[in-house]
Amino acid sequence: MMETKIIKVDRDNPEAGIFEEAAKILREGGLVAFPTETVYGLGANGLDAAACKKIYEAKGRPSDNPLILTIGDISGLYPIVKCVTENAKKIIDAFWPGPITLVLPKADCVPLEVTGGLDTVAVRFPSNIIARELIKEAGIPVAAPSANSSGKPSPTRASHVEFDLSGKIDMIIDGGPADWGLESTILDVSGDKPVLLRPGAVTKEMIEEVVGEIDVDPAVYSKPSADIVPKAPGMKYKHYSPAAKVILVSGSRENVIKTINEKTAEDEAKGLKVGIMATTQTKDSYVSGSVLVVGDREKPETIGANLFKILRKFDFIGTDVVYSEVFDEDGEGAAIMNRLNKAAGFNYIRC
Ligand code: TXA
Ligand code: MG
Repeated sequence: MMETKIIKVDRDNPEAGIFEEAAKILREGGLVAFPTETVYGLGANGLDAAACKKIYEAKGRPSDNPLILTIGDISGLYPIVKCVTENAKKIIDAFWPGPITLVLPKADCVPLEVTGGLDTVAVRFPSNIIARELIKEAGIPVAAPSANSSGKPSPTRASHVEFDLSGKIDMIIDGGPADWGLESTILDVSGDKPVLLRPGAVTKEMIEEVVGEIDVDPAVYSKPSADIVPKAPGMKYKHYSPAAKVILVSGSRENVIKTINEKTAEDEAKGLKVGIMATTQTKDSYVSGSVLVVGDREKPETIGANLFKILRKFDFIGTDVVYSEVFDEDGEGAAIMNRLNKAAGFNYIRC
């Protein structure tokens, strides 16, 4: 075990020189977790295979799951990709810096250990000021997967990173809660027609306004199987899940409430500890179980921002089973339901 140093940074007013030590750790092959506008990332020198190996060890991440490289300004893109396609240029103009990651043909300097053996690389230019200043100060592309233990919900607070990775990494920069709360959109723009690999804050509709019709990897909406193998290797793993068994309950609002109340009573009679993921609109309709409010149905961004925090909380209070309401899949709802489906292993009660 190593000692993990935690530093607090005010993102509205970062002190001069505050990133010097963290940037040095990154350049010298160490690991630093830092906030982004999506979730916290676990940073390492993205051109140093040995440093990136430490990411896999700290997270317990399968080595075929490639890392995203983050850049601190646009000039950081050109050295790490072979070319910038026309579609990539349009997306960059419209959405960077921001919560969308682009898959492009990789340059030779990017180690295959970073891309899981692929000849493409995923690149992201975060808008969070702490992330940008840190990466710029480090002066290297910074590999940054989500800073959670592999398989657990992504961290949206420094305390989540501390819980999962304390003692395994050199430093955590605490810059407050992540704004969006779900990982970035991933768009493969390496070929002629862009392919959406992971839905996020930049929605399919927003992308299509800029580049026209795109394809969606079938694994975005369906349970991975022999026929449906996700193109983003990381999407094939059971992900985002708390220790409890998560079951999604869909149907009319009255039926969902009635079914969850019945199931909760049955499970509690068996001695199980039950969690219920509710909304502002429904929280008072549940008669038993540990009811946690994930957000307001009228404001889907509140659900995105809280989803992983609430899944972690169910673990913290030690639930055996969690019943969750489901949400509309349009716009940003696509990202919310993609993560929730994975957390539940596509386990549904339809009523
Ligand atoms: O919002 C985010 O993107 C966060 C913040 C910290 O930047 N990072 C993040 O990284 O979510 P991670 O490692 O948890 O997810 C990256 C996903 C994985 O599913 C991985 O398989 C996929 O991106 N990926 C990486 N490189 C790829 C490539 N060349 N082709 C296809 N998918 C790729
Ligand atoms: Mg992740």
